[in-house]
Amino acid sequence: MKHNTFYLGDCIEIMHTCIDAGTIDLIYADPPYNASGKELNLVNNKTGGPFYKINEEWDTWEPETYWEFTKAWIKQCKRVLKPHGSLYVSCTYHNLGEVLIIGKEAGLRVNNVLVWRKTNAMPSITRRTYKHTVEFVVWFVAGNGWTFNYEAVKQLNPYRTKDGNPSQMGDFVEIDDVISMPVVQGKERLRRSEGRALHPTQKPEKLLRLIITASSNPGDIVLDPFAGSGTTLVVAQQMQRRWIGIEKNPIYYDAAVKRLHSLQPSMILERQYDYSTS
Ligand SMILES: C[S@@+](CC[C@H](N)C(=O)[O-])C[C@H]1O[C@@H](n2cnc3c(N)ncnc32)[C@H](O)[C@@H]1O
Repeated sequence: MKHNTFYLGDCIEIMHTCIDAGTIDLIYADPPYNASGKELNLVNNKTGGPFYKINEEWDTWEPETYWEFTKAWIKQCKRVLKPHGSLYVSCTYHNLGEVLIIGKEAGLRVNNVLVWRKTNAMPSITRRTYKHTVEFVVWFVAGNGWTFNYEAVKQLNPYRTKDGNPSQMGDFVEIDDVISMPVVQGKERLRRSEGRALHPTQKPEKLLRLIITASSNPGDIVLDPFAGSGTTLVVAQQMQRRWIGIEKNPIYYDAAVKRLHSLQPSMILERQYDYSTS
């Protein structure tokens, strides 16, 4: 089985065809949340214009189809995980219920539901709901003996006590199941030529650094079946993990390849399993 490979195509099919059972140490999955469908065009919003309220074809589903899709990809994730492997799934309130129920039905165990408090969340523009400031990351394990590098996670906390130990104070105490960090902005945010955000849900590298530190070791294989702009692959590469990425949208795929090349120009990435032209 190949690693440090980036597939262009459908993750359910590619996991089924190209990834052997019981081979993956860590999966980070950031699937479509089924949050789209409501127009809200924030013309002057620099973090993504109309993208802020996500309104993407790939993120719009009927409830029954979304349920079946979620079942299919979680089943494949369970199949390819090692017996002690971890699956982290990013969710919002839109799909947390489906992910928890389907993951448990697939035989996975929930270790934590991390809450990511977004420190720069948009205000409640309609003023008809509370402001939405959080996303969730469900940490499933396939069985006992999972990896959790407690001491290494503690060291990620930038706050220190007077004697130099990681502090339990501050906004970003990463050993907690509540983490605070902004939505990607500034130099880290990939942009189109006209300045718009390239990907509406680009995840912070810091979030992936936390997950990869906690639940894998150097040399382990990290899989991202919904790679988008390539955040997981870039961080896995920086952290000396082997990785496999899958993304079905050729625009996001090409942007992620460019991002990986800017990290390591010599990296050879061919379009694997390319369905975009068929
Ligand atoms: C929430 S985004 C992931 C964003 C990513 N974590 C990042 O940091 O850029 C979900 C991605 O899944 C892709 N996608 C949707 N359905 C897919 C499928 N069946 N197979 C592979 N990719 C898919 C979408 O094109 C989108 O880029």
